[in-house]
Amino acid sequence: MSDNGLVNLGVLVSGNGTNLQAIIDRIEAGALSARVACVISNKGDARALQRAEKHGIPAIHLPYKGFDGREAYDAELVRILKDHGVELVVLAGFMRILTPVIINAFSNRIMNIHPALLPAFPGLDAQKQALDYGVKVSGCTVHFVDAGCDTGPIIIQAVVPVLEDDTEDTLSQRIHKEEHRIYPEAIRLYSEGKLKVAGRRVVVG
Ligand code: GAR
Repeated sequence: MSDNGLVNLGVLVSGNGTNLQAIIDRIEAGALSARVACVISNKGDARALQRAEKHGIPAIHLPYKGFDGREAYDAELVRILKDHGVELVVLAGFMRILTPVIINAFSNRIMNIHPALLPAFPGLDAQKQALDYGVKVSGCTVHFVDAGCDTGPIIIQAVVPVLEDDTEDTLSQRIHKEEHRIYPEAIRLYSEGKLKVAGRRVVVG
């Protein structure tokens, strides 16, 4: 918690940053008692970094190259996040697997958004996996991060239909719209102290 009672967020990104934008917009609208303390990207050309700068948020490029292994990279991530007083780490399209170095440093304080209804279609290309499988609904999941790949306790999910003529692109767009709604909502619940992790379950309320 920062001095003014806001939850300090550290947002990790790799790409466009539309989820980051949705979070910033909700904060600026006064609907979310949080502050984005820093945005960190492993990719220098991530549009998300520009979005952060535009809102006066420290935007940090931390390339993986040059680090002696994933643990060393994650140790530097932890250092930067702690330097910025981050309480909750928000993965918003961060396309790297985290090691226990960061997972243990922020136990039950790292959230991720995944573009499928977990536990279906974890990992990469979730929308393509859903189309290839032929499911009639898909959606998105916000969950706490544990040591597995997209396996942590689920906070919120949203469902969208899969239409006959969907492409990866049209399905992704439909899912993105729901992501932009449920990710700020999950952060709001956290900021109000309404999320309790009990084993695999997140009890809300
Ligand atoms: C989102 O669709 C998010 O669910 C996905 O990356 C996209 C980032 O979009 N994350 C994953 O696939 C993680 N496995 P954005 O950069 O526009 O927020």
